Amino acid sequence: MNPWLSIEAEDYENHMSDSNVYQLQTLNSIMLSQISDYKPNSLAIFGIATGNGLEYTEMMDIVYAIDINDKYLTTCKNRFANRNNIKYLNLDIDNSILPFTNVDMAICNLVLEYIDYVGFIKKISSILNKNGILSIVYQNELKYGFVSKTKYSEVFECLNSIYHNIDKKTVIETSKTSGLTVSKSLEYKLLNGKTFTRIDLRKNNN
Ligand SMILES: C[S@@+](CC[C@H](N)C(=O)[O-])C[C@H]1O[C@@H](n2cnc3c(N)ncnc32)[C@H](O)[C@@H]1O
Repeated sequence: MNPWLSIEAEDYENHMSDSNVYQLQTLNSIMLSQISDYKPNSLAIFGIATGNGLEYTEMMDIVYAIDINDKYLTTCKNRFANRNNIKYLNLDIDNSILPFTNVDMAICNLVLEYIDYVGFIKKISSILNKNGILSIVYQNELKYGFVSKTKYSEVFECLNSIYHNIDKKTVIETSKTSGLTVSKSLEYKLLNGKTFTRIDLRKNNN
């Protein structure tokens, strides 16, 4: 069983938004800039969790909100019940054929660390429109473990079994062979000393 299925939505949010972690808030503002930079009409969000950033997708024609944890998707559905442009997809990114193609943009923030990221980049290239963007965010290698300490952090220990660091060179090389070109690369520094890398990859126009 994927360990993400054992983490309750409430524990997830309490931990991620704790002042010692502050990742939910940071990811929310990153998502706003990802969307503002490219203004897609169709968007796929991989690892939507409990819906962080979905509030910025109201004007889009279609939003695919994807997660392995169906309970997280239920939280999203309740929070965004007034929206009819969101399609929720409960699937495992590693083992599923994506049931859609032709999106302007795909966002994958803090998920690559838990999946086969090389396979993911190869797969995503084929569902992007020409000139479409894949924007990824990952946590950089850490000296003291990838889970920051909070009173909820124990429930995240199960993720140790699947967590792996992301190698930027591998991301760039895989992207190149998959027809994607780097259009932007940014670093975000968190208050607790962690850093996030964001890389935006554009699908070549051929
Ligand atoms: C750290 S959270 C993502 C944070 C979120 N993107 C944000 O911006 O706030 C990781 C999410 O990826 C989901 N996830 C992990 N492995 C997955 C997989 N193989 N397939 C689909 N979703 C997965 C988890 O259930 C969790 O909701």
